Amino acid sequence: MSNVVVVGAQWGDEGKGRIVDWLAERADIVARYNGGHNAGHTLVIDGKTYKLALLPSGVVRGKRGVIGNGVALDPEALLAEIGRMEALGVRITPDLLQIAETATLVLPIHRAIDAAQEQLRTRLQECPLGTTLRGIGPAYEDKVGRRALRVCDLANPEYLSARLDLLLAHHNAWFRGLGLETFDKAPLLGALLAMAPKILPFVGRVWEQLDAAHRHGQSVVFEGSQAVMLDIDWGSYPYVTSSSTVAAGAASGTGIAPSRIGHVLGVSKVYATRVGEGPFVSELDGALGERLRDRGREYGVNTGRPRRCGWLDAVQLRQAVKVGGIDRLALTKLDVLDGFETISLCVGYERDGQRIDYIPASDAALAGVRPVLREFPGWSRPTQGARAMDALPAEAVALIEAIEAEVGVPVTMVTTGAERDDVVLRNVE
Ligand code: IMP
Repeated sequence: MSNVVVVGAQWGDEGKGRIVDWLAERADIVARYNGGHNAGHTLVIDGKTYKLALLPSGVVRGKRGVIGNGVALDPEALLAEIGRMEALGVRITPDLLQIAETATLVLPIHRAIDAAQEQLRTRLQECPLGTTLRGIGPAYEDKVGRRALRVCDLANPEYLSARLDLLLAHHNAWFRGLGLETFDKAPLLGALLAMAPKILPFVGRVWEQLDAAHRHGQSVVFEGSQAVMLDIDWGSYPYVTSSSTVAAGAASGTGIAPSRIGHVLGVSKVYATRVGEGPFVSELDGALGERLRDRGREYGVNTGRPRRCGWLDAVQLRQAVKVGGIDRLALTKLDVLDGFETISLCVGYERDGQRIDYIPASDAALAGVRPVLREFPGWSRPTQGARAMDALPAEAVALIEAIEAEVGVPVTMVTTGAERDDVVLRNVE
């Protein structure tokens, strides 16, 4: 198998984890390149559910996992997750998991900043971003501010202590300015030094390991977190996460050469969901939205937040394909549409009577945009659990073909249930 980057093509929660799980069986390594424990990847294997946030999805099946330099790593969250996996019988050893020495550390102070920034946004603009409050954004801010602590710093207590002084001087001034409680150094440093011996055995030069893997003919699945519409550059700013979620992020976030990326598989549901604030042109407010939420069990894996639901937006998906580098699509959760009498697809936008086929960049320009919907008949024979094209009703095939035609890249996989093998393969080379 060639290398493949798996990218969320919507706003996250597309079911990337189970696609990565399926691909991981055919690959040697699964590498995370962006985000942190704001992500939530659910895998159902033999009826057992595994909820992953930081660990690459392949580890559950014993595949080598890599956490790249582009990841924001909360050591406390990682150790807790390793503990949860071990309780489920998955042993995470340094042979199985390697962490980039240059990954940025997420600290408790980042969670406090995340919460304070959300409160500030609510107070001043009456609109928070709806972040996961995991401290991911503030940790990346520290990275570009060149004051972050990195995983390799855990090996050098004196350096770690000096870096922490700089970080606290910066943030405590902000906390003080807002009349909020400041952070003491001793407990932060103490906790990091206590965790260091548990983290350091996993730490190494990931870029070098990936290069060696390539030279030995091994293949890598790059597991994107979040999605194109949450990308710091390409998403609906400022309602985005703070990392590069697109295929280019796989190169900068692990050290793999862009020329070695291989294929880019975008993952999209056959409808759309979004958590947190931000524009969502094809959102359904009423009973139809509720029905999608109930049937698709659309609640956050880590936060439990109900997801906003709507019809699939081909304008958004087309744009995501272009900027995300996507050359093929996996459509997930087809079975959720079982029982719908009619299904709609947003095929264009309209503003002031004019058709537009792109997402306007500013909130103001987006405000008056309405979806242009094309209706499709639903199907009476369920698709749930279907594993071949000829097991799908003609109406479902017509919908898939219409999506493919609207978006302009082939749909190569369609998922029809929670089990890993509830997959229909199409046009596979
Ligand atoms: P942050 O990544 O916690 O800063 O949150 C920024 C935005 O990204 C918010 O709208 C979150 O709801 C969204 N977000 C972050 N991670 C995920 C994810 O894994 N799935 C879906 N949305 C996410």
